[in-house]
Amino acid sequence: MFITLEGPEGSGKTSHIPYLVEFLREKGYVIFPTREPGGTSISEQIRDVLHDMKNAEMHPRTETLLYQAARAQIVEEVIKPRLADREIVLSDRYYDSTIAYQGYGHQQNLDEIRALVRYATDGLTPNLTILLDLDVEVGLRRKTQSDVGWNRMEAYFVEFHRRVRAGYHEMVKAEPKRWVVVNSEQAWESVQAELRKVILEKMNN
Ligand code: TMP
Repeated sequence: MFITLEGPEGSGKTSHIPYLVEFLREKGYVIFPTREPGGTSISEQIRDVLHDMKNAEMHPRTETLLYQAARAQIVEEVIKPRLADREIVLSDRYYDSTIAYQGYGHQQNLDEIRALVRYATDGLTPNLTILLDLDVEVGLRRKTQSDVGWNRMEAYFVEFHRRVRAGYHEMVKAEPKRWVVVNSEQAWESVQAELRKVILEKMNN
């Protein structure tokens, strides 16, 4: 089972994942958490290049390709082997982030982006994708208030992030069977409870 979490900036994915993992392990599931970009030595090195505020001159096509390079590596080195061992892989972002950020955000050709994504993933699609959805301004404000510094992607202007969120909504509409939307403007505990419920329901299906 391959589960991915998606969302605009400040949606809280990263804070929820450790608690989901602990909850599922207590239930006896073998679960492997990972994140994108990253999750392997090569992919983490590419992440540093992508997110470094010094790389302000990076062209959107360069950005798109670097995300795919990081992705191809984690798919082959981590995700495919774990799935083959029947583990549950839970990823903080996957290829829908590229469609949302590089496709809708940068307004690059969506068909070309989808073809690149297919190449990078070798066609590997998640069984379940959860959109942690929230107002873009609320999310960016959460980021400003946290003590973790800004990365190059977060620093894009607010219109970019509005297109990203709208893009996610388009994707949910296009593939309603794969996606579940969770409102992440609720209290943290309510979001966590809903995430647990959605994942357990999928496992029990
Ligand atoms: P995060 O780990 O804090 O979510 O940061 C990852 C950033 O990278 C976030 O701004 C979204 C961005 N991103 C893309 O633009 N495209 C991608 O394909 C992925 C995986 C992430």
